[in-house]
Amino acid sequence: DTPLRDLADAQGKVIGTAVTGSKLTGTYGEIAGREFNSLTPGNAMKWGSVEPSRGSHDWAEADRIVDFAEAHGQQVRGHTLLWHQQNPGWLTNGSWTRDQLGAIVQDHIATEVGRYKGRLAAWDVVNEPFNEDGTYRPTLFHDTLGQDYIAQALTWARAADPSTKLYINDYNVEGVNAKSTALYNLVKSLKERGVPVDGVGLQAHLIVGQVPSTLQQNIQRFADLGVDVAITELDIRMQLPATEAKLTQQAADYKAVMKACVAVTRCVGATVWGFTDSDSWIPDTFPGQGAATPYDENYSPKPAYHAVAEALGGT
Ligand code: G3I
Repeated sequence: DTPLRDLADAQGKVIGTAVTGSKLTGTYGEIAGREFNSLTPGNAMKWGSVEPSRGSHDWAEADRIVDFAEAHGQQVRGHTLLWHQQNPGWLTNGSWTRDQLGAIVQDHIATEVGRYKGRLAAWDVVNEPFNEDGTYRPTLFHDTLGQDYIAQALTWARAADPSTKLYINDYNVEGVNAKSTALYNLVKSLKERGVPVDGVGLQAHLIVGQVPSTLQQNIQRFADLGVDVAITELDIRMQLPATEAKLTQQAADYKAVMKACVAVTRCVGATVWGFTDSDSWIPDTFPGQGAATPYDENYSPKPAYHAVAEALGGT
């Protein structure tokens, strides 16, 4: 089979995977290097990972992933600068004035974006800023800095690395709905104000048989605003055990997602959130569910793998 990355390259698209740095050896490393033209650290670049105690950084896993990607001619998507989860205890347990937290966030962004300056294709600057109804999620950042924290974060990221694409990333924004419309309105207003925003990330943590029918239309409306769109965390979960029928439906679902992206020029591509069922967050978070990725736990490609290949023009 032609590796997915060769098919994607021919289409001018990204096919990426989230990875765990410590696993990038053996079969896991071979597949990650051979099949994908982009890597996203699944956890290694989150604030709690890189600055566990204030002022003391641990870049080891993030560096390992970036070095691996460069050795394999792959892009890296940085993930993520501001999120309400996986933050260091010193940050979440502190009590900060607006000015204090603003300075801390600015320093965090300048330090982390600056460290990888010129080496990352994109950054998820702000992750999951919205509630399901399209209101802003109440987070440390939102509640202390105000809703313009998003514009500030983007501006600080641009200053730290003018060459990396700056994204806002969220889940349940794949179809046209209240949450994606809030994201749309935010991006529109940021663009109108001249705030640097280059793309939106649609995470796409989906359920078998439930690809939103408005996916392509939604991608297109963001593209029409003048931003790139990336499918950033694609997985399609099912109730276990996986049956042939469910795996067949899952393959059709993967194909539908990939085709929607291929159909829109400004959709840069898709990243799967772990390429193997042995490296997926789903079973931990949704007990009884899983089998959400293109490879099974033994690194055998599933029907979903072949569906992705077909959507990228493979046979
Ligand atoms: O590293 C520790 C390890 O030392 C410890 O022994 C083990 C015991 O539980 O936990 C390990 O940390 C886990 C970490 O993943 C690394 O495996 C955390 O408990 C676990 O909560 C964490 O889950 C991550 C999750 O974000 C946190 O919400 C997943 O791996 C990661 O895939 C997931 O990714 C997020 C995206 O960043 C944003 N979008 C949603 C997506 C899924 O939640």
